Amino acid sequence: MTRKIHTVLIVDDDRSFCQALSLHLNSKKMKTLTASTGSEGLTLCSRNRIDIVLLDQKLPDGEGVDFCTPILSYNNRTKIILTTAYPDLEDAVKAIKVGGFDYLSKPFEMEVLDLVIDESLKAAESEQTELIGANKKRSDEDDEPLLIGRRGGLAEVQHMVDLCAVNYAHVLITGETGTGKNLVAKAIHHKSLVKDHAMISTNCASLPDNLIEAELFGYEKGAFTGAGASTKGIFELADKGTLFLDEIGDLALHLQSKLLGVLDEKKIKKLGGQTVKKVNVRIIAATNAKLEKAVQQRQFRSDLYYRLCVLAIHIPPLRERKEDIPELCQYFIKKIAPFFNPEIADSEVEKLMNYDWPGNVRELRNIIERSIILHKGTILKPSEFLNRNLFVADAPPPPPTSSKKNIWR
Ligand SMILES: Nc1ncnc2c1ncn2[C@@H]1O[C@H](COP(=O)(O)OP(=O)(O)OP(=O)(O)O)[C@@H](O)[C@H]1O
Ligand SMILES: [Mg+2]
Repeated sequence: MTRKIHTVLIVDDDRSFCQALSLHLNSKKMKTLTASTGSEGLTLCSRNRIDIVLLDQKLPDGEGVDFCTPILSYNNRTKIILTTAYPDLEDAVKAIKVGGFDYLSKPFEMEVLDLVIDESLKAAESEQTELIGANKKRSDEDDEPLLIGRRGGLAEVQHMVDLCAVNYAHVLITGETGTGKNLVAKAIHHKSLVKDHAMISTNCASLPDNLIEAELFGYEKGAFTGAGASTKGIFELADKGTLFLDEIGDLALHLQSKLLGVLDEKKIKKLGGQTVKKVNVRIIAATNAKLEKAVQQRQFRSDLYYRLCVLAIHIPPLRERKEDIPELCQYFIKKIAPFFNPEIADSEVEKLMNYDWPGNVRELRNIIERSIILHKGTILKPSEFLNRNLFVADAPPPPPTSSKKNIWR
């Protein structure tokens, strides 16, 4: 069981508007990302799994509606809500036609925004349920997180995953963005002796400190404004199972001490509570930051660091294991388009092997997915979507020229 934190991307050149919305959405336990131009927004879409985009209609580099198609080509489950200070029915119709979910006139009340967001999440959820029904067999297979590759250091990762599976010690997973840290965490839990207990995930970077504390330890009714009922924290929910703490490097120092306390004493106390409860949780922490450096700079507690990395797994970047690219390509093609058999020529695979993959396996998966969407049912040419500048400079990805609904997922 994973508690899902939704990610909302706000694309608007009005910084104070972005800030106000971010604060509000963070208080609703959502992760937010902001961009001041459409191109910047597209770059974020190419690197993150975005649930909702709040897209301003008048952007410095174009009309919001013109960015809908490229946004959806990264993930056609993203819900786009157009916002505008100059309501225009024609724009609204155009937005819906190109796949936008809703249209809000600025200024709007936060309650209205909450309602629209709620509706869009419900819509995404029911689409997901339909897909699950339609692809029951496939999704059953998806339950088992498969780690593809054995070369350039991945064999060592696979070996460590097996070791972690028969051991209940804490694990620290490091690696650049997109190397597969979440996947490895899931694989460990899935293979472990506690696989029938919950795996709960949270992202330490996505919530403000006070909310993270409430999220981790739970709270009693009245512990703070808005604490309407006693609520379990994720430590309690993950009892006897696995707690995945993503982006652990972003955990504030005072929360690092609290976490250490729980690991030492195996006890938690809810915010505003008096009673102490015993918990036994395996932590799998992940980070793409250099934690050793943070320890040296006293931004990360050394005692917590050593406690977490009893079992340390470093996932090498894809550029150091390019021999795995052909197998990864075949795997993603089958996973994304199981009912079709798109082909990929050896010369194409060679081009992919000559690229350095700054966004790692996620970038490879995205590029395969884009080529499946745009070259539907034919010969795939993913190399056409390679953009060497995308992950190193601020340059936006080239917007695709057209998008078709991805009917395979
Ligand atoms: N070895 C692998 N085999 C199959 N799929 C993989 C592999 N490594 C990564 N992936 C896929 O690549 C994508 C990115 O992986 P994941 O989200 O685990 O990366 P991450 O390291 O957690 O990234 P970030 O630091 O940005 O959170 C996912 O779709 C994942 O399933
Ligand atoms: Mg991750």
